[in-house]
Amino acid sequence: MRKLVYYIASTLDGFIAGPDGADPTGPGGFWPIPEDYLRHLVAEYPETLPGPARQALGITAEGTRFDTVLEGRHSYEIGLKAGVADAYPHLRHLVFSRTLSESPDPAVEIVSGDPIAKVRELKQQPGKDIWVIGGGNLAGALYPEIDQLIVKLAPLTIGTGIPLFGHGAEFDPRTWELVDHRVMDSGALFLTYTRTTSGQNSACPPPAPPSARCPSPATEPATSTSNAPPTWPVSDGEADTSLDSRAGVYVDWSGRRTHRPGCADVVEHRVDPGQRISSGMPRHLQSPDATDRRVQAEPDRH
Ligand SMILES: NC(=O)c1ccc[n+]([C@@H]2O[C@H](COP(=O)([O-])OP(=O)(O)OC[C@H]3O[C@@H](n4cnc5c(N)ncnc54)[C@H](OP(=O)(O)O)[C@@H]3O)[C@@H](O)[C@H]2O)c1
Repeated sequence: MRKLVYYIASTLDGFIAGPDGADPTGPGGFWPIPEDYLRHLVAEYPETLPGPARQALGITAEGTRFDTVLEGRHSYEIGLKAGVADAYPHLRHLVFSRTLSESPDPAVEIVSGDPIAKVRELKQQPGKDIWVIGGGNLAGALYPEIDQLIVKLAPLTIGTGIPLFGHGAEFDPRTWELVDHRVMDSGALFLTYTRTTSGQNSACPPPAPPSARCPSPATEPATSTSNAPPTWPVSDGEADTSLDSRAGVYVDWSGRRTHRPGCADVVEHRVDPGQRISSGMPRHLQSPDATDRRVQAEPDRH
């Protein structure tokens, strides 16, 4: 089934635009677009560039990822006010709005109904993945249906603005598995995360009684008879060798290392510029003949 992908540029502090809701990359905007970043967009995501930019750069490539783009009315109107009624003529373009009664362009479909229902309908149809361009408000409304995040993380902080999922998103923690990343020399990162099953790590079964949870670390803490998570005391200055990817482990406010139910795939991930590091299940959660893909550096393919 095709995926719903939120492919979005974000600041380090989690904002997709300034508080004024204007185009931060437009003329007079505060969001720089480094050359290597743009080159990567053109090479990997040509279909995500607006029609006028494609034309100016001589891009005709269809792209491999998306054939449909979903846009919130505010974001759409930025292009509209600049005289571009359909910024993505090479994609099926749907704009969500309960106030726009008529589409300014016959190729742009206005959707006034429930975005979730619309996305579920689109997912049943054949085609490439579906791109939510934003903004935050629409992404927040679609949050439960988003299967993948491609975050174009900019080396930029702005203090306040429009958050990744808008101001109205519900509190609903979900976990994501890093499946790809690319580091630009300019400091921007392309991070691709796939949602884990039911918000849990897909390698880990749903919560079970403590004794039946994920395979125990070598230094198993004393078995707890209650349902409270077991804890380890923090060892003074000793190297932390048990802190691996078998279980969620964190240090609480009292300085105790605590075992959290469920599995966390990656607890440490070093990113070297120019290298792609693939992450996968730790060996003890894989089938016996599987190789350890936990931290495997590969030469850059690009
Ligand atoms: N960083 C990036 O990559 C990126 C990408 C895109 C946009 N942006 C920025 O995002 C900002 C705009 O974001 P935003 O959060 O203010 O607005 P937005 O999500 O673009 O648009 C919000 C509008 O979408 C419609 N909508 C939202 N939820 C809906 C629902 N459940 N049902 C029907 N319609 C719904 C509503 O239109 P009606 O009011 O007409 O009902 C709503 O007012 C701009 O600054 C833009 O530059 C950034």
